[in-house]
Amino acid sequence: MSSLKDLFSPRGIAVVGASKDPTKIGHLILKNVVEYGYGGKIYPVNPAADEVLGLKAYPAVSTISGGVDVVVVSVPSAKVLDVVDDAGKAGAKHLVVIAAGFKEVGNVELENELVRRARKHGMRVLGPNIFGYVYTPVKLNATFGPRDVIPGNVAFITQSGALGIALMGSTILEGIGISALVSVGNKADIDDADLLEFFDEDPNTSVVLIYMEGVNDGRRFVNVASRISMKKPVVVIKSGRTEAGARAAASHTGSLAGNVALYETAFRQSGVLSVKSVEEAFDFVKTLSWNPLPSGERVVVITNGGGAGVQASDTLADDGLYLEKPPQDFVEEVKKIVPPFASLANPVDLTGMASEDWYYKSVKTALENREIDAVLVLYCHTALTSPMGVARAIHRAVGEAGARKPISVAIIGGLEAYEAIRYLTNLKVPAYPTPERAAHAIAAQIRYRRYREYLLKRILPGG
Ligand code: COA
Repeated sequence: MSSLKDLFSPRGIAVVGASKDPTKIGHLILKNVVEYGYGGKIYPVNPAADEVLGLKAYPAVSTISGGVDVVVVSVPSAKVLDVVDDAGKAGAKHLVVIAAGFKEVGNVELENELVRRARKHGMRVLGPNIFGYVYTPVKLNATFGPRDVIPGNVAFITQSGALGIALMGSTILEGIGISALVSVGNKADIDDADLLEFFDEDPNTSVVLIYMEGVNDGRRFVNVASRISMKKPVVVIKSGRTEAGARAAASHTGSLAGNVALYETAFRQSGVLSVKSVEEAFDFVKTLSWNPLPSGERVVVITNGGGAGVQASDTLADDGLYLEKPPQDFVEEVKKIVPPFASLANPVDLTGMASEDWYYKSVKTALENREIDAVLVLYCHTALTSPMGVARAIHRAVGEAGARKPISVAIIGGLEAYEAIRYLTNLKVPAYPTPERAAHAIAAQIRYRRYREYLLKRILPGG
C-alpha cells in the first residue's frame, strides 16, 4: 500500500483551529468528523478552549498523548508554519492544510517552506488552499462541505474548492456513491499521481473522477494513470482548456493549465476518459461505476420512438460506434410481441404502441442474448404507459436477466419522466433525460474498454 494509507485510515485526527464558534471553518470540519461517524480518536486543538463539541481540547498537537496520524490545519496561513513544527514533534504523518494565502496569491516561498518543513519531519502535505477530504470506508469526513455523502465506489479528486464542495452536494443529489473525495488545492506536495497510486490499490474504489486545472509532473501522471487505467477507469474534467479558462486557473490555484492538445494526447495515451463538463463526467461515472465492463462492442438500441433512436444512433456514431443488425434469435423473440409494422433493425423500434410488458420482455431478451454486449433503452413518455411503469419493467428485466451486462436508459418527458429517472438511479441503473446522454454514457464504457485493451497489450509483458 502506498504511503497515503495513514491519511485515509488514521488512528487519530487532530483539528487545529477547532473553534467553539459555529461559523468558523475549524468548527465545521470538527463537526463533520464527529457527526459523520469517524471511529478513531478525534482531538480538537485550540489554546483558547478547554473543550469543543463536547471533546477535550488541547493547546497544541504536541500535548496530545496517543497516535495522531493526521493534523487538519485550519488557522490563517501566517500561523501554519508553527503548527507544522509542532505536529512534526508530535510524530504526525500528514498535514491537511485548509488555509488559503499561499502560491495562489504569490506566496510561493511560504508554500515551499511549508513543504520543506513538513518533509523534514517526515510528513506529507495535502493542500494548501483546500476544503479537506472524505474517506467513507472509515466514515471520515474532514471537510467543511456537506456531511452526508453517500458511500460508494467512486473516488473524486478536485483541484477546485468551492466547486468541489458544490459537486459534493451534487453527488448526493445524483445518487453517486463516493469512496473518497479529496480536495487537492495548490498540490504543493500530494498530487493526482500520488492519489491515483493509492486508489489503484484501494479495494473500495473502482472509478476515479478528477477535476483538474493542471498537473505538476505530466510524465509521472501519464505513467501512474496508465497503470491504474488497466484496472479502473479514470475520468478527467480538464478545465482551463481555453485561453480565458487558463488565465482563470492561474489565479485560482496557481496552476499552469498548459497546452490543451498536449493534455488530450497524454490522456489518450494513459487511457484516461477526458470530458468537458461536470454533467458529462457524472453521466460517465454512473455507467462506469454501476455497470459491469462490456465484453464486446455490440450495442442494441430498444426504443418506442424513431426520433429518439436516430438521435442515439448519431451520438453513438460520433463516439465511433456503429450499430450492427441485431442477432436473429433476439429479433425472432421480439417479433412475437410487437406489431408486424415494427422496425427490428438496430434501433429496435417497439413502436409508439409499446407497453410496459414489451419493454420488460425485449430488454430481458436482449440482456440474455450472448451476441449482445450492451443495451441502450430509450423511452418517450406516451399516454399509453407511465414512465414509472416502464422504469419498473426495465429494472425487473435487469434483475431477472442472468448475465450482467451494461445498460443505459433514457426516459424522455416531463416531471413523471424525471421521477422515473430518480427511481432507476436509486437502484443504480444509469438513467438520463435525453437519448444523447444515455448513448454517450454507454459509449464511454466501450471507449474505456478499447483504451484498456490497448494498454494491456502495450504495457503488460507478452501483451
Ligand atoms: N493552534 C490552535 N488554534 C489556534 C492557533 C494555533 N496555533 N492559532 C489560532 N488558533 C485558533 C484561533 O484562536 C481560533 O479559535 P477561536 O475562535 O476559539 O479564537 C481558531 O484557531 C481559528 O483561527 P482564526 O484566526 O479565527 O481563523 P479563521 O477560522 O477565521 O480562518 C482559515 C482560518 C484557515 C479558515 C482562513 O485563514 C482561511 O485561509 N480561509 C480560506 C480557506 C479556503 O478558502 N480554503 C480553500 C478551500 S475552498
